[in-house]
Parts: sequence; C-alpha cells; structure tokens
Amino acid sequence: VLKLKLLEAIKQCSFKVDDFIRRLLPDEAKPRELYAASRHLIEAGGKRLRPFLVVQSCIAVGGDASAVLPAAASVELIHNFTLVHDDIMDRDDFRRGVPTVHRIWGVPTAIIAGDLLFSKAFEALLRCAKHISVSPERVVEAARRLAEAVSTIAEGQALDMSLSGRLKEEVVSEEEYYEMIYKKTAALFKVSCEIGSIIGGGSEEQVRALSSYGENIGLAFQMLDDILGVTADEKVLGKPVGSDLREGKCTLIMIHALSNASSSQRAAIMKVYGKSEISVEELKLVVKLLEDLGSISYVLDLAKKHVDSAKKSISILPESGAKRLLMELADFVISRKY
Ligand code: IPE
Ligand code: IPE
Ligand code: MG
Ligand code: MG
Repeated sequence: VLKLKLLEAIKQCSFKVDDFIRRLLPDEAKPRELYAASRHLIEAGGKRLRPFLVVQSCIAVGGDASAVLPAAASVELIHNFTLVHDDIMDRDDFRRGVPTVHRIWGVPTAIIAGDLLFSKAFEALLRCAKHISVSPERVVEAARRLAEAVSTIAEGQALDMSLSGRLKEEVVSEEEYYEMIYKKTAALFKVSCEIGSIIGGGSEEQVRALSSYGENIGLAFQMLDDILGVTADEKVLGKPVGSDLREGKCTLIMIHALSNASSSQRAAIMKVYGKSEISVEELKLVVKLLEDLGSISYVLDLAKKHVDSAKKSISILPESGAKRLLMELADFVISRKY
C-alpha cells in the first residue's frame, strides 16, 4: 500500500514536470530533427525520481511546490542529457524500452540533442526566479550547485571509462569505485535534494540533511543499477542486461568477485568479461558465479547501509507527508526491479 502511494505521488509529479519540459521543447521548433531527438527519451518514459526529489525536498522544508517545478524539470533535463551521451559511450542500443537516440538519428545528432537538453536545463532552472516567493539569491545558489554537479558527472563518466578494462590487468580499489559512482550518479541525486531545499527556503541544516540523504540514496541507486544490470528481466528494465560485462565495466560486484574467485572461477568470468557478444547461457553462468561468490549480496548489503544512512540524515526534518515519501523512496531505491 505504501509503495503504491509512493508510485502514485511520483506519477502525479511527473505529469507536471513533463508538461513543463514539453513547452521547453516544442514540436514546432526547428530543426525538427534536433528537437525530436531531444524529446525522444523523455517521451519514452523513465522513473522521474530526480524531479520528485526536488519537489519533495522543497515541500519537506516548507516550500511551495509550484515555485520549484522549473527546477524539477531542470534536473530531469540534465539526467536525460547524460543518458543520451552515456548510451553513445556505452554503445547501448535501447533504453526505456525504445532504441537509443544515436541508434535512430546517428551519433552527431545525438551529441547535439544532448547539448540542447543541457542548455534547456539551465534555462528552466533560472525560471524559478520569476516566482515571487523565491529569492534571486537562492536561485543563483541552486544554479551554481547544478553547474558544479554537471562538472562532477563529467568527471565521473571519465572515471567510468578509465576504470573500465583496468580490472582485467590490475586491482581496482573500492575507494576508486565509490569515487566513480559518487561522481557519475550520486552527485545528481544529491544536488536534486539541495536545489529543492534551497529554493524551498530551507535552513542550512535542512539543506545539509537533504544533501546527505540524496548522496546516500544515489550511491545505493547505482549499486542497485549494477545488480539489475546483470540480474534483471530486460523487458522490465527497458535497457540491455549484460552490457556492463560486455563493455568490461568496473562495478563493485566485479571487484568483489575477482578478488574472491579461485583461479578457475576467475578464468570463467574473464572469458565473458569484455566479450563483444555474450550469449544468454554465458550470462547465466557468470551470474551463477557471482551469486556463489556472494558478490551480489555483498553489494546489496552495502546499498542497504546507504539507505539506512539516508533515512537517518533526514530524521531531523519536521514530520510531513513529504518526509514520509522520501523515507519510502529510500526503500524503493533498493527494492526496485527497473
Ligand atoms: C539511469 O537512471 C542511470 C543511472 C544513474 C543508473 P534511472 O534508472 O533513474 O533512469 P530512468 O530515468 O528511470 O530511465
Ligand atoms: C549512469 O551510467 C550515469 C550516467 C548516465 C551519468 P550507467 O552507464 O552506469 O547507467 P545505465 O545502466 O546505462 O543507465
Ligand atoms: Mg555508463
Ligand atoms: Mg550506460
């Protein structure tokens, strides 16, 4: 029942966010192809968790939900910008159950479609300043933090690339993995909570609490993404399963598995890791090995710890419906199947 209420609340929020985004990327805008390519993933779906975090963080500190809507749209635009470019980097053919932007329009158009989403995000965020209840200083601070977060994501994606393949030859530390996922994923969750609470008029202590909440659910979120990336049902997930293995990606699951494997187990994993075509049987075999080695439960346990820390961080906030939804969202992050 609780989960249904949460999903319903996310859906209600996403209607408003999508409406705002649609007006930023109108059908009539030219060149038609560029705008169609920019809208493609957004129209295909997605969970809309980041804009929901912006809105609930705003409400949780006593802010006005309608004033923060442009900021909610802005983080979803940034998210989609990173996804369009990420799918080029990761050579993935589908996401949200549809072909990726570069598969349909080609890499050059996908690059500029991403750039357009990036700039529209800042255009959206700055519109918060139009609302009388929001001080311009707070909008500037939110924009500064968003810009910083986007730089952090770029650093994280560069780290993702440099750690890929490295596991084959040498050990990658857990610290390096944490830095990578903090930067590529948790930073956007974190800044979503910060933006919402800053624009909502939160105190420094409240902004810090929500910032820590966002960071922790972001870390847990990426750990689950790594687990789903090998174990999920592809139709439910909407994106390729086994792609991290194919691309030789560095995940905590792999770090744990390779440092605990016997030489024959290691050889069996290495046969598939980085292989351009992985069969269903090969994937099954590796998942079985990862399970036998306890690598999946190891990562899931760590993710649970971050969810607990996230919930603890926001315990200082006054009781409210928004706070309850944020608590539920923290649990959803590690129980999700998509
Ligand atoms: C995918 O994020 C990218 C990661 C950070 C793992 P989501 O799983 O939130 O993607 P959508 O928006 O629901 O498609
Ligand atoms: C997630 O990248 C982070 C960004 C997109 C910035 P991943 O490559 O791990 O995520 P998915 O699995 O493609 O969604
Ligand atoms: Mg990637
Ligand atoms: Mg990817």
